[in-house]
Amino acid sequence: MIILAVESSCDETAVALVKDGREVLADCIASSVEMHKIYGGVVPELASRKHIEVISTLADEALAKAGITRKEIDAVAVTYAPGLIGAVLVGVNFAKSVAFSLGVPLIPVHHVRGHIAANYIAHPDLEPPFVCLCVSGGTSLIVDVKSYTEMEILGATRDDAAGECFDKIARVMGLGYPGGGPLDRASQGGDDKAFTLPRVHIHDAPLDMSFSGLKTAMLNLIHNAQQKGEDLPVSDLAASFSAAVSDELVPRTMFAARQKGYGKVAVVGGVAANSRIRRDLEAACEKDGCKLYMPPLKLCGDNGSMIGSQGYYEYLAGGRAGTDLNAFANRDISLQY
Ligand code: KG4
Repeated sequence: MIILAVESSCDETAVALVKDGREVLADCIASSVEMHKIYGGVVPELASRKHIEVISTLADEALAKAGITRKEIDAVAVTYAPGLIGAVLVGVNFAKSVAFSLGVPLIPVHHVRGHIAANYIAHPDLEPPFVCLCVSGGTSLIVDVKSYTEMEILGATRDDAAGECFDKIARVMGLGYPGGGPLDRASQGGDDKAFTLPRVHIHDAPLDMSFSGLKTAMLNLIHNAQQKGEDLPVSDLAASFSAAVSDELVPRTMFAARQKGYGKVAVVGGVAANSRIRRDLEAACEKDGCKLYMPPLKLCGDNGSMIGSQGYYEYLAGGRAGTDLNAFANRDISLQY
């Protein structure tokens, strides 16, 4: 079964062709990140306009790359939530019109479920159940992936997402936008104990996370130094911050994994590209005797392949939408469409 998959929830427009949920025939991505850089963050209206400009060209490009015709498309999958509402709407309306004109099913896909499926493409042996840490610019969740389409949130951030925290701190450190990658690179070789930063414990909710206190502590540290005219050692600061974020995520994920006892742990989302988090997860999984699944860096960020993969499993579970499909800025990952 060949699925044409569409992703437009933030600043990446992506169209992919995926066969039977695991084989990527083509994945074409256009990013508008360069346009947003001067504003220090994504400007939703600009992102939406960029999606409109490129989406149909990307679909043609994907078909050409895969060497198939429109007639060979069996279904269309699309991110319908969560995301920037105007941006998601562009993909949803494009997908609706393609599905309607080809007379094929339309499959709604939750964006974070899509991120989880990135590992199905990277690791042919991976099957649920497993515990998955989902960390991106908009989300930080620990999810019990019970089956391909049954999910339960075990822990969630109470405030900011990990990626948002990386981006804000990188911006005040002068590392540009989006800052997760540059901050990660700046941390290489730095002393992760140079600065004492807070670790959070939420009473009665050991798997919930919080990044706002860490963000405030970092901002105070940086602003105090600026007011005194002092220069902080960038790589030590980046390393200490990365260690604090990882300490928020990795022990909780492992705690959840021990509770569930699946012996399989996965990590997904843009922040899954972080070298410190990857290293800490590797060490923790080795210690606990768990198998760890991480996507390659190109599948950590938003892409169409992951939507095509998850779309296949949603289709098998009966996930279908009509031309009345709407987009949602927020939606619980555990809800089936
Ligand atoms: O998954 P993604 O591409 O978009 C969302 O669905 O949100 O994630 C983007 C986020 C950004 O916040 C970016 O700074 C972060 O992923 N990111 C990283 C790294 N690479 C990207 N954060 C930490 N370390 C990295 N190496």
